[in-house]
Amino acid sequence: MSDTQQKVKVWDMCLRLFHWSLAVLFALSAYSAFQDKFGIYADMHFYAGYTILILIVWRFIWGFWGSETARFRHFVGSPTAAIKHLRSMITGAPYREVGHSPLAGYSVLLMLLLLLAQAMMGLFATDGMIFSGPLSRDVSGELSSDLTKWHKLLGLILIYLIGLHIFVICLYGFVKKANLVWPMIVGSTRIGAGQSAPTLRSNWLGLLLFMVAGGVVCSLVFLL
Ligand code: HEM
Ligand code: HEM
Repeated sequence: MSDTQQKVKVWDMCLRLFHWSLAVLFALSAYSAFQDKFGIYADMHFYAGYTILILIVWRFIWGFWGSETARFRHFVGSPTAAIKHLRSMITGAPYREVGHSPLAGYSVLLMLLLLLAQAMMGLFATDGMIFSGPLSRDVSGELSSDLTKWHKLLGLILIYLIGLHIFVICLYGFVKKANLVWPMIVGSTRIGAGQSAPTLRSNWLGLLLFMVAGGVVCSLVFLL
């Protein structure tokens, strides 16, 4: 296979920027969540959360109109494909995916849905004193208190889930000798014979759609 390998772009720049910004913002959200919630930590929690919301809304749009490797229909396959991939990984087959594997596809979708739910619930959350999401007064006190409980619980679940995500990426590196991190940084990887290069969309389109996502979230949060 090594003779016929060629280097191709698998992740467009927008998706890579999305991923690493999300990683930094998530760390800030999680860190600030456990500090005293006034001053800089409250601002950090809110603004990191709003930006995560914009990023996730953008990611869902990109999942339908973005580059081939970013599209849901490209990487969310049948459960059978995911199980087959898991089996082949256990039995020692080499990693040969262009984009997310059928198993990673499910975990990506789960992470995106839970992050969306988390950031949305944050908008309605309140500590009952000074630290309140911008929409917490637009719903009943009971609903806001329930959403706050779910927001706190899901926050913890997400911290474990993202920890697992990083652990699995390390496992692929150490056990399967598949470096998935480098392509997520530089965008390119090597593909073998019989595999074709994915079609990537323009970064300008990504930027335009990011502005659309920003507009949608800002009107939801600040104008409603
Ligand atoms: C040092 C920390 C991290 C590393 C090394 C890392 C690495 C990676 C890699 C290599 C992929 C591509 C997996 C594949 O090839 O199928 C990926 C995807 C992904 N990661 Fe991370 N990650 C990190 C932190 C995070 C954090 C903190 C989050 C979320 C808060 C996150 C969310 C995601 C998501 C949503 C995807 C799917 C990308 C997409 O298609 O939208 N990652 N990560
Ligand atoms: C994905 C992004 C977010 C993550 C990971 C996250 C995580 C968390 C966590 C873990 C807690 C619980 C802290 C504790 O137990 O003391 C929390 C509390 C809180 N979050 Fe978030 N959050 C996010 C986004 C948001 C957003 C967008 C808002 C509102 C704009 C928000 C508003 C709040 C509020 C008001 C509380 C306080 C609840 C209380 O102390 O009773 N969060 N967040």
